[in-house]
Amino acid sequence: MEKPIITVVGSINMDLVVTAMKRPEAGETILGNDFYTSPGGKGANQAVAASRLGAEVHMIGRVGDDEFGSDLINFLERENIFLSGVEPVTHKASGVAMITLADGDNSIIVYQGANLDTTPEYIRKYESLIAKSDVVVTQLEIPIESVEETARLCQKHNTHFILNPAPAADVSTDLIAKTSFVTPNQLERTALSEKVDMNQFLEKLIVTEGKDGVVYYEQQKQHRIPSYSVSAVDTTGAGDTFNGAFAYAIGMKEDVKTACHFANAAAALSVQKIGAQAGMPTKEEVYEFIRNNG
Ligand code: RIB
Repeated sequence: MEKPIITVVGSINMDLVVTAMKRPEAGETILGNDFYTSPGGKGANQAVAASRLGAEVHMIGRVGDDEFGSDLINFLERENIFLSGVEPVTHKASGVAMITLADGDNSIIVYQGANLDTTPEYIRKYESLIAKSDVVVTQLEIPIESVEETARLCQKHNTHFILNPAPAADVSTDLIAKTSFVTPNQLERTALSEKVDMNQFLEKLIVTEGKDGVVYYEQQKQHRIPSYSVSAVDTTGAGDTFNGAFAYAIGMKEDVKTACHFANAAAALSVQKIGAQAGMPTKEEVYEFIRNNG
């Protein structure tokens, strides 16, 4: 297969980022060192990651009718993402993420804004995109009923469905049963296990554990791929890079182990630049990194 078709159903946010020496305590004001805006949103980030690697990527999502909305559309266009499924919502603000970068990691508050208008009805309008895709990816920054509708359409059209359950939210056993893969980080995995008995679904489970690498299961046995030792300047979007790259590899019909290795390398490259999307690599960069680093 030359170019997998990937549809991302998900969020598009403007990231408002402050770097600081530490995170403020409740009631405390501290001074930051730097501020910038950069395109983000877990959905958009995963779309950009897959597109840079060479997939044909379609996005289904919403932005507001504000300046952030038009900037976000421009960024996605420059990344060669097909945007017929991204309609602006009138009289609503685009989604934003307030990000604090401190102590070598990020903490994020997302205001969903127009992303909430990615409703089940809206997604049904783009059923033909889902039907023609090799892989559909979604996250939890849009309404959960919309994620469930996406899962239903993927099942109907026999399309691989990857759920990145981020940020953690209540998901049902029925939803997990419809996935091909579920890709939480450690915090999200804990939240997931409180709602769903994941032992039933071990072979769908891929856990991204940051510095501790990636865990996947084959024949009920756990395998761990260690992380690469790189000097990380910004971990924002590392999980999204993993998901976009994993979707690309699954679309290329790689097995789970190969897909996890490939996505792990892509994520290691992504943390070496500032901004969720800036460090996302091309396929050639990932292969070169793997050749040089094992
Ligand atoms: O995963 C990182 C992303 O989470 C950021 O780009 C931010 O927009 C939030 O959605």
